[in-house]
Amino acid sequence: SLTQAWQKTVKVAVTGASGQISNHLLFMLASGEVFGKNQPVALQLLGSDRSFGALEGVAMELEDSLYPLLREVSISTDPFAVMSDADWALMIGAKPRGPGQERADLLDQNGRIFVDQGRALNEAAGRNCKVMVVGNPCNTNALIAMENAPNIPRKNFHALTRLDENRAKCQLALKAGKFYTNVSRTAIWGNHSTTQVPDFINARIGGRPAIDVVQDMKWFKEEFTPTVANRGGALIKKWGRSSAASTAVSIADAIRSLVTPTAPGDCFSSAVCTDGNPYGIKEGLIFSMPCRSKGDGDYEICDDFIIDDWLRKKIAATEEELVKEKECVGHLIGITGAACR
Ligand code: LMR
Repeated sequence: SLTQAWQKTVKVAVTGASGQISNHLLFMLASGEVFGKNQPVALQLLGSDRSFGALEGVAMELEDSLYPLLREVSISTDPFAVMSDADWALMIGAKPRGPGQERADLLDQNGRIFVDQGRALNEAAGRNCKVMVVGNPCNTNALIAMENAPNIPRKNFHALTRLDENRAKCQLALKAGKFYTNVSRTAIWGNHSTTQVPDFINARIGGRPAIDVVQDMKWFKEEFTPTVANRGGALIKKWGRSSAASTAVSIADAIRSLVTPTAPGDCFSSAVCTDGNPYGIKEGLIFSMPCRSKGDGDYEICDDFIIDDWLRKKIAATEEELVKEKECVGHLIGITGAACR
């Protein structure tokens, strides 16, 4: 046929749209490399009064780029307008962590933002909107948004741990002297924080268990694990700000993993709701686990990962941290009587 069968435009709401991460991500979304080369996109961008000039600048640059798939760019400081009919909500905006600041400091500062934006999602977004929370502390921010958006399926909420997975794959590939495409089944468990658990037990390099290829448990436990878990902090020390370009790339990867089928036997990491999870992790948390997708935007949690004693202990510690974070934001998710420990 002479007429191209265009798909219905996908509406993508982005918060923190004038920030450093968005400045990389928006151009990837507009180019078609995330949602596909025959998938038109509309970008609905949220900024603050303070950043509105920069937001207008971003919109002007997007327009001037003449992306054939970019059908509309709208900007606003009103979360309800930005979330309107959204198919995806990429919640990037949050006060970033500065040098020497712990993620816990951000819990309170950022929590309120995610109450308001969760309510906006609940009222205005598409009923099957997929939500990806990036602003830190992202697991707990995603939990706050989810609890304030009961009209959106709990399953649709993600917090970004694909960046951690990519960092883990990089370290495994470097150690094994193989290109990163040989590394598969690299799960991140738990919180996007220093308690995260990069899983070398189930990871494969060239189809073989990574622990058979590298054969150095001391390296896995004492170098690989802390290197991956502390990479975000190490980058903040170098840049004086959080990672931006690699974060944007990993958001693109995370979305692509949900809209394209996962290779047989492989997985991708995403922090998702633990309700009904196959690993006995406490329900009602947003916890990174290995997932796979048929490519329809939905996912299931992989149920065939081996949990040895190392993983069990590490997973329990990151679970405990997330339980504590949840208690600290009890007042934002309708739990009374909880207190920050
Ligand atoms: C990262 O992993 O690079 C960031 O989430 C670090 C941070 O806390 O901002």
